[in-house]
Amino acid sequence: MDKLVIDGGRPLSGTVEVSGAKNAVLPAMAAALLSSAPVRLSNVPALRDVETMARILRNLGARVDLGQGTAEVDSGGLSKWEAPYDLVRTMRASVMVLGPLVARMKRARVSLPGGCAIGTRPIDVHLSGLAAMGARVGMSDGYVEVETGGLHGAAIQLKVPSVTGTENLMMAATLAEGATVISNAAREPEVADLAALLNSMGARVSGAGTDTITIEGVSSLGGASHGVVPDRIEAGTYLVLSLLTGNGLEVRGARAEHLAALASRVAEAGGALLPVAGGMRTSLGGGKLKSVDVVTQPYPGFPTDLQAQWMAAMAVARGSAVIREAIFENRFQHASELARMGADITVKGDTAVVRGVEALKGAPVMVSDLRAGASLVLAALIAGGRTEINRIYHLDRGYESLVPKLKAVGAAIERVPS
Ligand code: EPZ
Repeated sequence: MDKLVIDGGRPLSGTVEVSGAKNAVLPAMAAALLSSAPVRLSNVPALRDVETMARILRNLGARVDLGQGTAEVDSGGLSKWEAPYDLVRTMRASVMVLGPLVARMKRARVSLPGGCAIGTRPIDVHLSGLAAMGARVGMSDGYVEVETGGLHGAAIQLKVPSVTGTENLMMAATLAEGATVISNAAREPEVADLAALLNSMGARVSGAGTDTITIEGVSSLGGASHGVVPDRIEAGTYLVLSLLTGNGLEVRGARAEHLAALASRVAEAGGALLPVAGGMRTSLGGGKLKSVDVVTQPYPGFPTDLQAQWMAAMAVARGSAVIREAIFENRFQHASELARMGADITVKGDTAVVRGVEALKGAPVMVSDLRAGASLVLAALIAGGRTEINRIYHLDRGYESLVPKLKAVGAAIERVPS
């Protein structure tokens, strides 16, 4: 197990390159199960979750070659339809093989992903949608078992705009008999990116990125080449870092149209996210951010995946901010770790009150989940003194080359065995 050792308080400047989006590359890899021809992905981030998804696909009989920023998935030799617990339990996104397997193999046996640090993470939206398309859904021994004589189109109203639920059902519907309409669909850019890949494979998906997606089923899909959309959450993380460390970072690959909710909060706080050629920068009048409240919402609202990073920023802002986590039921575990660094945060249920302090102080802290880890890295980089961050394997899931990217802009950060 490694840890990060960070000496904070340095102004950072230079260019950070945003990698391909974790939450786009994972469904894209699963989508390759829909076709017997190879799918070639570029702008693929080197992340632990990508390796996990590769293992799950290989276990199903697909060939998966991971290269430098590339992934080729050939499921021509697909022979199995089971995703085992020991793989699924390490990554909830494994559930995204469900829809493609039912569509391609007419059956799937996928371990229930189980909860994670941030919540119970149910998949009822996924399962009720598949049932609406003519699948029989059962449970046994912690596995969900789905089979069908053939999926047919359906009108599906999601009870919540689940991101992976939308993606699973969109993928399943591409090979269903007839048309499927998904209402109250997730609008995240990663959903639109998946639809673009599916259409390049020969699917007929329209409306992705809006709350109503229509999929005209086709008899089969072919191969495709596809570049993965940049990671807006990684980009937002580095933009918040820039605001906290002297506004010297250029975040290449950041797309303003994906970060409007963050930009509006930053403007309220007295700063600005500024589009530049090929990316974005930040500016901040008056030295410190003002405290600004946020409520996390489905896209295009303020992303739950940036909540922890915003909390780190509000910990040293001027005033007091109320942060409400309205998506997941347990996504404030970073608060107690930030408090170890001197932050003044009171958590009550789904709401945290963050009173800005003059400065944070380095301390040993522990990562509970991916975005909590990002929050602690931000805090350590602005804190006075040394911070040791433990359990950083969570960070390896979603932040490619974190240490080299930060070192390149002047951070005093080392990864060492703990
Ligand atoms: C995706 O998770 C992302 N993961 C998450 O990113 C992200 O936080 C989340 O969307 C919300 O934006 C991937 O895309 C791989 P949801 P997902 O289904 O799809 C409830 C990260 O840090 N719900 O949109 O699992 C659920 O309990 C990760 O990169 C049901 O009730 O999230 C939650 O309250 C963390 N029934 C809400 O909906 C369901 O069947 C949103 O969940 C599904 C979800």
